[in-house]
Amino acid sequence: MGTPRKLFIKTYGCQMNVYDSERMAEAMGGQGYVTTDSPDDADMILLNTCHIREKAAEKVYSELGRFRGLKAANPDLKIGVAGCVAQAEGEEIMRRQPLVDLVVGPQSYHRLPELERQARAGGRALDTDYPEEDKFDHLAARPKARRGPTAFLTVQEGCDKFCAFCVVPYTRGAEVSRPVDRVVTEARDLVERGVREITLLGQNVNAYHGAKDGAEWGLARLIRTLARIDGLDRIRFTTSHPNDMEDDLIAAHGDCPKLMPYLHLPVQSGSDAVLKRMNRSHTAESYLRLIERIRAARPDIVISGDFIVGFPEETAADFEATMDLVRAVEYGQCYSFKYSPRPGTPAAERPQVPEDEKDARLQRLQALLRDQQRAVQDRMVGREVGVLFEKPGRSPGQMVGKSDHLHSVFVAAEGLRPGDMRRVRITSSAANSLEGALI
Ligand code: 5AD
Ligand code: SF4
Repeated sequence: MGTPRKLFIKTYGCQMNVYDSERMAEAMGGQGYVTTDSPDDADMILLNTCHIREKAAEKVYSELGRFRGLKAANPDLKIGVAGCVAQAEGEEIMRRQPLVDLVVGPQSYHRLPELERQARAGGRALDTDYPEEDKFDHLAARPKARRGPTAFLTVQEGCDKFCAFCVVPYTRGAEVSRPVDRVVTEARDLVERGVREITLLGQNVNAYHGAKDGAEWGLARLIRTLARIDGLDRIRFTTSHPNDMEDDLIAAHGDCPKLMPYLHLPVQSGSDAVLKRMNRSHTAESYLRLIERIRAARPDIVISGDFIVGFPEETAADFEATMDLVRAVEYGQCYSFKYSPRPGTPAAERPQVPEDEKDARLQRLQALLRDQQRAVQDRMVGREVGVLFEKPGRSPGQMVGKSDHLHSVFVAAEGLRPGDMRRVRITSSAANSLEGALI
């Protein structure tokens, strides 16, 4: 084989895109491509895009514009757009940006090698179908190379919930779960290659209902099965919907030691009126009761969430209800966004909250969330936690890894290596990380 071609992938958005990018890189490896960290010497550039909020799509267009010089210098350079913007606006992208050679939607990644061949043959290629087959099954098997200690594994895609603000049900399609055996095989393979922690991914991961011998398994049963894999020490999952938090999954947080004490459970708003208009089909009260039950199963669990401020018709009182809910929960981690109207979603048609009002609300919410995150982190000082070390820290002799509760922990100790898992006593708390000492 001649010199390998170089592939540069830039990933936007969620962890599912990170996983997809890895799998696309592996698939293109079968076509003689190796990955590169820079677009400058690439033979193919792939933007794996996110459509969840406005600016994300705009960033894609401006990024594409920046590749004009590279393409002029190297006419063989192929440029592709993947991900949710590709799904939603594929034809528009082709029209608006002639630099783009191929567009591939999230359900069609297994067709990427074929689309690349078409583009190399001088055509432009677009595939935004929702094929019946499991794309992961058709993507090249993961090569046996060693990996770092943590990995993502997508088990479920798509969403049937249709929250009034969200494009995901349109870009990622209906909910689909991968069969249990395929997930287990992929997890074993990752562990053989050095992975000790797996994060199970899905847009609605706790709605998982994978097939197994003619039956359907929920997420808790899948987790308990994965927990039996020797060498797999930690399991996490994200993102969850409150309505799919079944009893056995709550119980697993209490009785499955490999399931880590961290749960991302977005609520979006603390106002029942807003939740109703968002089509969330839960209330603030039912969410708080759910959190109580989860904390009863695992008292030290860190709760994380997502919030949208300035949803159409959100009043000042609605916003205060969100602040009250946040105070009641005490989040260890949080992501908060100004509402951004997404074309084709019902909320985009409703009366909008003025931008300066959204700004002011977001600032107040983020200040509260910052204080909470810091308080939760500070309370770890003096405690003993597990840490899975991932890479060198800021100073010589130091390593950094994630605690069970997903805090970054810096430890100075002789001989620590990536992939080591140790018990650590937390000694101090800084802005976004902890320090500790081996026990
Ligand atoms: N505007 C702002 N935030 C949004 N999210 C989803 N859609 C929108 C939108 N239109 C947020 C939600 C979701 C997270 C992934 O992104 O909080 O949980
Ligand atoms: Fe979007 Fe709601 Fe589905 Fe989450 S549950 S992906 S916010 S529609």
